Amino acid sequence: MKNICVVGVGYVGLVTGTCFADLGNRVCCLDINAERIEGLKRGILPIYEPGLAEMVKRNVQAGRLSFTTSYEEAINGLPADFVFIAVGTPEGVDGEADLRYVRMAAESIADVADHPLIIVNKSTVPVGTGDWVADIIRAHQKKPIPFSVVSNPEFLREGSAIQDFLNPDRVVLGSLDREAAAKVADLHLPLRTTIMITDLRTAEMIKYASNAFLAAKISFINEIAAICEALGADVKEVAAGVGYDKRIGRTFLDAGIGWGGSCFPKDVKALAYMATVHGRHPQLLQAVMDINTDQRRLVVQKVRDCLGTLEGKTVGLLGLAFKPNTDDMRDAPSIDIAHMLQAEGALVKAYDPVAMVSAARVLHDVVLAEDPYELAEGCDAIIVVTEWNEFKQLDMARLKRAMRQPVIVDGRNIYEPETMKAYGFTYRGIGRGYNGCG
Ligand SMILES: NC(=O)c1ccc[n+]([C@@H]2O[C@H](COP(=O)([O-])OP(=O)(O)OC[C@H]3O[C@@H](n4cnc5c(N)ncnc54)[C@H](O)[C@@H]3O)[C@@H](O)[C@H]2O)c1
Repeated sequence: MKNICVVGVGYVGLVTGTCFADLGNRVCCLDINAERIEGLKRGILPIYEPGLAEMVKRNVQAGRLSFTTSYEEAINGLPADFVFIAVGTPEGVDGEADLRYVRMAAESIADVADHPLIIVNKSTVPVGTGDWVADIIRAHQKKPIPFSVVSNPEFLREGSAIQDFLNPDRVVLGSLDREAAAKVADLHLPLRTTIMITDLRTAEMIKYASNAFLAAKISFINEIAAICEALGADVKEVAAGVGYDKRIGRTFLDAGIGWGGSCFPKDVKALAYMATVHGRHPQLLQAVMDINTDQRRLVVQKVRDCLGTLEGKTVGLLGLAFKPNTDDMRDAPSIDIAHMLQAEGALVKAYDPVAMVSAARVLHDVVLAEDPYELAEGCDAIIVVTEWNEFKQLDMARLKRAMRQPVIVDGRNIYEPETMKAYGFTYRGIGRGYNGCG
């Protein structure tokens, strides 16, 4: 059993802290957001993540998991052997990663720490940040207390975060202090996975390279989808056929509206920024981002093609979260799509199984529906934006009856063109034969 402090109680911090507690450690989770911490103390989670609420409750009851806004309490109270930094690193004005929260966290840790610490950086940070964090700690310490900085990039996916944390493909640890990295490795031994120890910068780079590759895979299949539409091929079968090749693999080869969320957009941009600042020309990364932006325009264009004009039409968005099983609306394609539709004079309706509250904060003048059938009422077209499982088996006859015009633009290819045609819909998928309609 180790004592762990987790700084930043968002998607990554809360899952990390809870899972480490579940593995038998004593964990204190800290956030500067007092409302968030108050809620957690009362059992209210700030995010939707399957299975997390039960796990938090179980570990709080067992006395292994606690929440605070006090750095003093979180670091010296236990006292913590390890401090994980899991604060946000949003996009800065020029596409760089904004490190202000990491800096604040590092300063606060240095201000209070009264014993030797291993500081583990889990936030996705530009290459070189580990060294910078060490400089900040050194500069802010009241008296010189030994510490080490270890980079431990996180690869979990929202929606399956607990599963991913507990069953990772690998754990990456980067540090110039091999002894400290080995201690962090020990914490992960119960996960029975490959633990890779590198230097700090290499570990930081592994995270960016991973996200950039995954984003590239999706943009690649979207480019192939566009070519499929021109040539009358079906991208779903192309992806399956290509994906059987072990060198390629089937995952992340789903053509559609493209990627969004809290990581890929900012991380690909931040990697391109780092490359540019160092005199490189990240042409591939640029193309990966451009193709992704085009996909959002493409679905709007498909609706316009079907309806002739968007002016005065009602368009329903089926799904709002950037992907299923999360309520995260950060850089969700639905936001851009809603804006584009509204800019052309359409009334936008929307429904999502869990993201309605978070969506209401970022979507304006959008009519929120209670369920898919209420959404369909009076719609001239529906766009499938998020591939929630519950959308896959809708009562299509009922949906069609509720709509003013039976037009479905399936931005996630969850339906089959032939089936939808049989129901009497004008159907457009992405890359499903000529113009995406089989
Ligand atoms: N969300 C993901 O799926 C995911 C996956 C892998 C890596 N990451 C990376 O992990 C990091 C965290 O992402 P997230 O989605 O969990 O962020 P988040 O926005 O959900 O949570 C960040 C939390 O940090 C808190 N915070 C900010 N400054 C603080 C400070 N000085 N002291 C204490 N708390 C502070 C915020 O109040 C917030 O609760 C980012 O770098 C992200 O790129 C995210």
